[in-house]
Amino acid sequence: MKHYLEVQFTLSGPLPPESKGEIEELFKQFTEKTQESRDKGEFKITEWKTKGTKLDITISSVDSLSPHVAVLRLRKKLSAAIGKKYRVGLRGFAFIKYIIETELEEKPVKEFTLPLVKNLEFFEEKGKSYVKIEIDPEIEEDFVEKGAIERIVRRVGEKISKQHYGAKREHHQISWYSGEKKHHTEENPTQMMQKANWIQRTNYRNQWILSPTITALAEALKHIMIDYVYEPLGFNQMMIPKLVDWSIWLRSEHAEGIYQGGFEPYFVVQPKSADPEYFEEIADYITITKTIPLEKLAEKVSAPIGGLSYAQCPPFWAWIQGKTLAKESLPIKVYDWSGPTYRYESGSAYGFERVDELHRIETLFIGSPEQVKQIGMAVKDKLRVIFEEVLDLEVREAKVTPWWLQQSAHEDEMDSAEDLVVGTIDYEAYMPYRGSREESEWLEIQNISIIGQKYPKGFSVKAEGNIELWSGCGGGSFERFLTAFISQKGLDKDNWPNKFLKYIDKLPEPVKFH
Ligand code: SER
Ligand code: ZN
Repeated sequence: MKHYLEVQFTLSGPLPPESKGEIEELFKQFTEKTQESRDKGEFKITEWKTKGTKLDITISSVDSLSPHVAVLRLRKKLSAAIGKKYRVGLRGFAFIKYIIETELEEKPVKEFTLPLVKNLEFFEEKGKSYVKIEIDPEIEEDFVEKGAIERIVRRVGEKISKQHYGAKREHHQISWYSGEKKHHTEENPTQMMQKANWIQRTNYRNQWILSPTITALAEALKHIMIDYVYEPLGFNQMMIPKLVDWSIWLRSEHAEGIYQGGFEPYFVVQPKSADPEYFEEIADYITITKTIPLEKLAEKVSAPIGGLSYAQCPPFWAWIQGKTLAKESLPIKVYDWSGPTYRYESGSAYGFERVDELHRIETLFIGSPEQVKQIGMAVKDKLRVIFEEVLDLEVREAKVTPWWLQQSAHEDEMDSAEDLVVGTIDYEAYMPYRGSREESEWLEIQNISIIGQKYPKGFSVKAEGNIELWSGCGGGSFERFLTAFISQKGLDKDNWPNKFLKYIDKLPEPVKFH
């Protein structure tokens, strides 16, 4: 990797001429030390000068210390050297020019741009591909301190690899199958439930009203989950917030994958002012015209402050963020179905199996690696009993791309020690109306994951006595469970398994419309 940097420090006052020798010496020693600490490469401070309150330095390096890292270190040393003695302080630095040249594994399919980058130039030399990255001189100092330069270089490679292999390398490996089960219908479950007045579309895209009839079935599923999973495994119910501000999605890394093919949130905005006068004009307009002045309204609201709950568990972590968990409180085992989650499902209108407003069930556990592995497997086995025995569904389990990798921007970032046990298993149900078992797409109805250290690390959670912390979680939804169930068993209760019927006292009669 080749670097060339021209940087300018701003000083609190001019440096006296007698300081020159000292600075020269400081740079010399710094260069020598850098050279000594590496057996290859070349690091050079090629030029420096002061003029008034400015100190200009030019650094070039080949396969050696990156100049911006050198600048951060030099800043400290310079402050110490000139601060006390000459009463001159360092105010900060700005890049005049920063160029990074590095070899690429592959050449890009097409050119692209990146934020905080002034120019990207791809070229070839002796059959190898290179990129010349010119950093935007306006880049903020604190971004440089916090690793933005390194991430720019990494992002170039990530984007090229994405151009070659697509956004995600989905994997899917079936690990268990219930075997064929008798199905009682081959109709589309959404249409069946609509015709029976169990569910009704609203005016809003992929949102449904769940009638008392179908709500009774969702309630039955809740009792089943409690009796078969939560009660025997000692899980407690809690209520996780459903409005998620950016601080959460930054730590969970969802923000980085925004609308990149796995994370499609609904945004939440705030009024710029809550003063009645501020909205009076809008209120008057609506009163007179009975329409909403959308553009005017848009001017009166903020940029999104975050969005509506998407993956359900991330906002849980704000609870224990930055804390040290007592050993006796581990493992933590909770579940949440306190409110809907939201996904902007792009494309056309979908059925009940793919909704924008989703009633999800989140199962979440935190503990030592052993505890998390053990709980994860126990939850998986209990879920299998629910799907296979209680609901009598034709289902299979598949090892799939973990949900957090799908939803964040990254392809793969598990360390290899975690690799064997960390991952996601999906439960998928056969949907007879879609066609043959072999060719049709099965419906994903539940996932269960062992996530490893990602969330405790991301939210800086520790455990007493430095126990390593892992987490795991699982998600399912009433909409998906019921779509799968009706798709195989139909609407007629006579065809439903007894173990399920036991949980339904009386199914409310659907309301009829004339
Ligand atoms: N949080 C996980 C997901 O979004 C499990 O619910 O799939
Ligand atoms: Zn989760």
